[in-house]
Amino acid sequence: MIKKFDTDESVRRWDTFADKYAENHTEQGDLHKKVLLNPTLLNLIGDVTNKHILDAGCGEGYLSRMLAQSGANVTAVDYSKRMLEIAKTRTSNELQIHYQHGNCENLNHLTNESFDLIVSNMVIQDLADFEKAFQEMYRLLKKDGSFIFSILHPCFITPESGWEKSINGEKLHWNVDNYFYEGVYEQRYGDKENMLLFHRTLTSYIKVLLQTGFVLESLIEPTPNEEMLEKRPSFRDDFRSPNFIVFKVRK
Ligand SMILES: C[S@@+](CC[C@H](N)C(=O)[O-])C[C@H]1O[C@@H](n2cnc3c(N)ncnc32)[C@H](O)[C@@H]1O
Repeated sequence: MIKKFDTDESVRRWDTFADKYAENHTEQGDLHKKVLLNPTLLNLIGDVTNKHILDAGCGEGYLSRMLAQSGANVTAVDYSKRMLEIAKTRTSNELQIHYQHGNCENLNHLTNESFDLIVSNMVIQDLADFEKAFQEMYRLLKKDGSFIFSILHPCFITPESGWEKSINGEKLHWNVDNYFYEGVYEQRYGDKENMLLFHRTLTSYIKVLLQTGFVLESLIEPTPNEEMLEKRPSFRDDFRSPNFIVFKVRK
């Protein structure tokens, strides 16, 4: 069977997977976000009082709600209508969050230079045209505004990566293969169907960010802190091979 891998297909899969995805998310996101991504993102984001923030690819909206609760005025965009429905039901009316349907590769309905900060948590590896998405983020940011985004770490999470295990199931080492392949691949997230991911090398990410005009401010490979490790010892594996990388770039 020939499969068609385009944006419509990605949207269809996110719509189908949205309810299952949201089930794993509390008001701090899922476990990986709670332990690894939120501390890094919130530290890079800093004070958000009265800031206009775009949450690009908001999903069920936990990060938008965290930011709005800290005093930000948030515009939250996602191309999955089902995700947006879930996000809206989870959001109280007092919060300043404007949910909008849109594709991060083309956000024409949003005005140039209208945001102090753009966050995009675990989205860029899901979209086909990261060059267009970065150009949109650049256009939408005010001068000196920051774009902070997390992705699967492209050096370690590749189309063919995973633990090499002994016959007893002990994790021996993390295998990486096909690093220089750039393009789409399927990854099992839920039990129903595979999601589409787009792999690029670290070089490509940095090259395209710089070509777009961004200045690289910070690059972080999140690791769990001691307090988290005591509660969740399995996260010690993140000291063997990282899952995520977080970029902070400035216009
Ligand atoms: C892994 S989820 C992350 C959601 C949310 N940022 C979070 O941290 O919980 C990826 C989300 O990005 C959305 N998405 C992926 N590509 C997109 C695009 N090009 N435009 C808008 N939303 C997109 C998906 O619908 C999904 O809700």
